[in-house]
Amino acid sequence: MTLEQIDRALSRLQAAGVASPEADAWHLLSFATGISRGELHAQTIAGRLELSDEVLDRFEEAVSRREQREPLWHITGLAPFLNLELSVGPGVFTPRPETELLAEQARTELELMPPRDGVIQVVDLCAGSGAIGLAIAHASPHAQVLAVEVSPEASDYLRSNVARLAPESVEILIGDVTDALGVRGEGSVDLVVSNPPYLVEGVDELDAETRESDPDIALFADQRGLAVIDTVIAVSSTLLRDGGVVLIEHGIDHAAEVREMLGGSGFARVETMTDLLGRPRFTRAERARR
Ligand SMILES: C[S@@+](CC[C@H](N)C(=O)[O-])C[C@H]1O[C@@H](n2cnc3c(N)ncnc32)[C@H](O)[C@@H]1O
Repeated sequence: MTLEQIDRALSRLQAAGVASPEADAWHLLSFATGISRGELHAQTIAGRLELSDEVLDRFEEAVSRREQREPLWHITGLAPFLNLELSVGPGVFTPRPETELLAEQARTELELMPPRDGVIQVVDLCAGSGAIGLAIAHASPHAQVLAVEVSPEASDYLRSNVARLAPESVEILIGDVTDALGVRGEGSVDLVVSNPPYLVEGVDELDAETRESDPDIALFADQRGLAVIDTVIAVSSTLLRDGGVVLIEHGIDHAAEVREMLGGSGFARVETMTDLLGRPRFTRAERARR
């Protein structure tokens, strides 16, 4: 394969309006070949990349699908999240880079928490593909994660990711956020993490690909975007031990309301954290003494 062939794929993606045509072309070539992007770059520049007709056909098919604006990670079937690759597709929310910040904060929290009987109890509410809970399980040998997800379609991906990446340390609960209360006792949890749906249908603008690729149940809450967050806060307030930590992702316009909701629900040291663009992205709080 030559650089011109890759450039041709890139031009097709650009003409189709794909936002990051170059990155996508290399991702698709990596998917078609099974070779990492770094190695592909090196081999292509050195003129050493030789591909079979079968691989070229696979690349052509992948580029055509992307040209039709099928989401990149639905074509490859795997989405990156920190150091993990998660199985994704229709019916499950594709994990986003901004949520990596919440997962990294969760890892930092875990480092500061002394395990109790060798275990740190974590609950991931609205787990989707399992991104946050699995990132935590991978980072800490002490973490025992309960991943709670209501959608049967999303749960298929959750099950497969947990089975592949952390079968010993992540337990799955298919059900509503509130069902976690039947599985973990009051005051028994050290850390709750959540990236719930928080958009308002008809108000928050979405690009066509997000609208197509992510299920409504993963995106939209009520008319204010706060309904699931409200439940997450109430459930966290019961589950967490005194001093336990909750981290909740929310819309960038929701920070003040979320802080207020936490403050009124038994939480202290409430603090909003920003993303790389300085936008309020998620809020951290500690369960106050009962
Ligand atoms: C924005 S996605 C986040 C998925 C994953 N945590 C991530 O960050 O990639 C929200 C997820 O919450 C799930 N969900 C929505 N309402 C729920 C509820 N009441 N109880 C449990 N899960 C819910 C959706 O199905 C979806 O998978």
